[in-house]
Amino acid sequence: MTDPADVIVFGGTGDLAMRKLLPALYLRDLDGQLDGDARIVAVSRSGLDDADYRDKVDSELRRTAPRWTGADALDDDRHAAFLRRLHHVTLDVADDDWSGLTDVLGPADHRIRVLYLASAPSLFGRICTGAAAHGIVDERTRVVLEKPLGTDLASAQAINDEVGSVFAEDQIYRIDHYLGKETVQNLLVLRFGNSLFEPLWNAGQIDHVQITVAESLGVGNRADYYDGSGALRDMVQNHLLQLLCLVAMEPPARIDGEGVRDEKLKVLQSLKPLTGPDVVRDTVRGQYTEGLVDGEAVPGYATELAESRAGTPREKDASSTETFVALRAEVANWRWAGVPFYLRTGKRLARHASEIVVQFKPVPHSIFPAFGEQIPPNRLVLRLQPDEGVRLHMTAKAPGPGGIRPHPAPLDLSFARTFGDRLPDAYERLLMDVLRGNPTLFMRRDEIEAAWRWAEPVLRTWEETNQLPRPYSAGGHGPSASARLIERDGRAWHEDY
Ligand code: BG6
Repeated sequence: MTDPADVIVFGGTGDLAMRKLLPALYLRDLDGQLDGDARIVAVSRSGLDDADYRDKVDSELRRTAPRWTGADALDDDRHAAFLRRLHHVTLDVADDDWSGLTDVLGPADHRIRVLYLASAPSLFGRICTGAAAHGIVDERTRVVLEKPLGTDLASAQAINDEVGSVFAEDQIYRIDHYLGKETVQNLLVLRFGNSLFEPLWNAGQIDHVQITVAESLGVGNRADYYDGSGALRDMVQNHLLQLLCLVAMEPPARIDGEGVRDEKLKVLQSLKPLTGPDVVRDTVRGQYTEGLVDGEAVPGYATELAESRAGTPREKDASSTETFVALRAEVANWRWAGVPFYLRTGKRLARHASEIVVQFKPVPHSIFPAFGEQIPPNRLVLRLQPDEGVRLHMTAKAPGPGGIRPHPAPLDLSFARTFGDRLPDAYERLLMDVLRGNPTLFMRRDEIEAAWRWAEPVLRTWEETNQLPRPYSAGGHGPSASARLIERDGRAWHEDY
């Protein structure tokens, strides 16, 4: 059970609030984890009153929640009780008059306030200073920042400065929702809860690491926003680098906010800088063209972008934004010297699947002639989504009397089969952590800025060298240059997902 709290969601009618935040709070409430007095106060410019807002959330929950709860839960008392927690305040944060919000909130008394900023990052500073000026902030108040946190180092620093002028660092929760995923947290337990892996977890035994976050969806109605961002800013600078940190970091002294984040920071600081010719050699940009995804014809990025800009002067503008990135990174430290980390992410790929592959070195010598010279090396595959689980690719003897015939055979841990339960959505975990005051799975200012320090030269070099994205057909595995990037090193992407 959390402390009594008011969760104030700026951007309370937006897509994130509707699709993720409200369902997450609802599911935690059904499990009895929200304090009886907790309230959720949505702030937007929409003009809705409490009743309208409750109706809106009710229909969204009816649309999405049966997937998780079974339809019955929707009509019981708990459902009605959740809706009664909801309030809506119409407010333009640029206005001086915040009385609509302060009247609803009343004195904080014993309540903790959480300001959830699910609005445009350009408003983060203004919301924080406005909230402070109107007496909404005290030393127990927490603020949650959604990505994107800046588009480069300077803009990230500016946001951090503005928010930091109101809140101390330990009041600030910067979300990377990948850290809320069960399987991502499982990586910590797998690495540090089993003695088996640690002696092998280094450059002596590991040949390379692959991190893939593949999406089959396109940018859809986010095209206009996305065009100012691209895959490196949208996915690599945050989600993929966070995954890399969890794979590469040293065992933290403690599993708490400072312990884990100190170790992740060291990894980010150890990333070998990619600059100038390295960028040209070790990165691949792509942009999808039309194609077939799951047998269905889908348009290319340029068409989606033009549609989203229809009727505006920019409708016909060409775009050089990447919807796919593959790159080769290195963590230049004692543990990982010389081990390549291949990262790739893209939209409109063959499947929606994310995984981390740790490939071990091959056996030094094969004594099984039936297998030829090469026994496939062991691979540990951490499947983040869907079908969450861990698979260790091994070699075993094929059964039968016909001599010793080694055969690939996986050891499989399926989360669904082993634990049976529904895996909570990342936002359920992260929102509860905010309410309980646990910052471990949130990004500290220095981490965000270290990630930008590494990513920014890549973006700059792409621009300076006019490295345009290579076209790839929707429904494939990205541009062929992505395969060449890894094949050049005598390795191949793990496509068996
Ligand atoms: C978001 C990106 O942070 O993550 C989106 O902005 C992307 O572009 C999404 O689609 C992917 O998240 P998930 O949880 O669906 O893998």
